[in-house]
Amino acid sequence: MRVVLLGPPGVGKGTQGRRLATESGWALVSTGEMLRDAVARRTPLGLEAGRQMDAGLLVPDEVMVGLVRERSALPDARLGFVLDGFPRTVPQARALDGMLEGRGQRLDAVVSLVAPEGELVRRLGQRRECPVCKRAYNLESAPPRDGRHCDDHPGTELVQRADDQEATVRKRLEVYREQTAPLVDYYRAQGRLVEVPGTGEVDEVYQAMKQAIGRTESSGTTPARRAGSGSGGR
Ligand code: AP5
Ligand code: MG
Repeated sequence: MRVVLLGPPGVGKGTQGRRLATESGWALVSTGEMLRDAVARRTPLGLEAGRQMDAGLLVPDEVMVGLVRERSALPDARLGFVLDGFPRTVPQARALDGMLEGRGQRLDAVVSLVAPEGELVRRLGQRRECPVCKRAYNLESAPPRDGRHCDDHPGTELVQRADDQEATVRKRLEVYREQTAPLVDYYRAQGRLVEVPGTGEVDEVYQAMKQAIGRTESSGTTPARRAGSGSGGR
């Protein structure tokens, strides 16, 4: 299965995507994590992307499409993958369609996670992340056992993401509304969209998401790939 998790900053894409990928044996393709890793390693991509990320802006489409093209072709993605944070613009979505079509593959489901903006701002202000395994904690709703260190990496202190300052969060939400929210209609028109509330307990959201994905599988709402039809926009 190939699943896209779509939704605004803080809605739970990383939290849910990590569990879905682990439990299903699919690769987790998180573009935000890939970029943060490049920033930490000070690669040319990281030096360039870091500026956009710190400002709450998107990294250029052609850079992101190249990254996902490479990552999704690795052997661990053969059985399936969960895309967290990609696509984020209509040109990225078109490029993904073209990329998959070129491989004789298709997207199986696009899960749109939804939550009110006030909740997103509150969550991101309280988010802390393990720098080793990237697991997201929340000082309010999902704190680490000792309040400071990763449960799975005991000596490792949790950190706050550079782009989780409130002003940057507001900018990221604005960018989401303008550039990413149009993908909801894009995928609805393709018949691939399933909407899942991102509020409630993490486990409740997970179960609702699994059920929604299961329904797309069993009802066959996912349109079959049309042989020879160019999806364009590569
Ligand atoms: P990215 O890393 O993708 O950030 P984002 O989309 O802004 O989303 P977040 O990671 O902030 O939130 P999330 O939905 O993963 O929530 P989480 O599970 O952590 O992108 C970062 C930047 O990289 C972008 O701004 C851009 O610059 C660049 N970029 C990335 N991809 C790009 C692309 N394709 N094109 C261009 N640029 C790109 O949860 C949040 C918090 O809430 C946590 O503390 C968690 O514990 C808590 N939480 C989760 N679920 C619940 C719940 N049900 N109840 C209570 N708390 C919860
Ligand atoms: Mg995330």
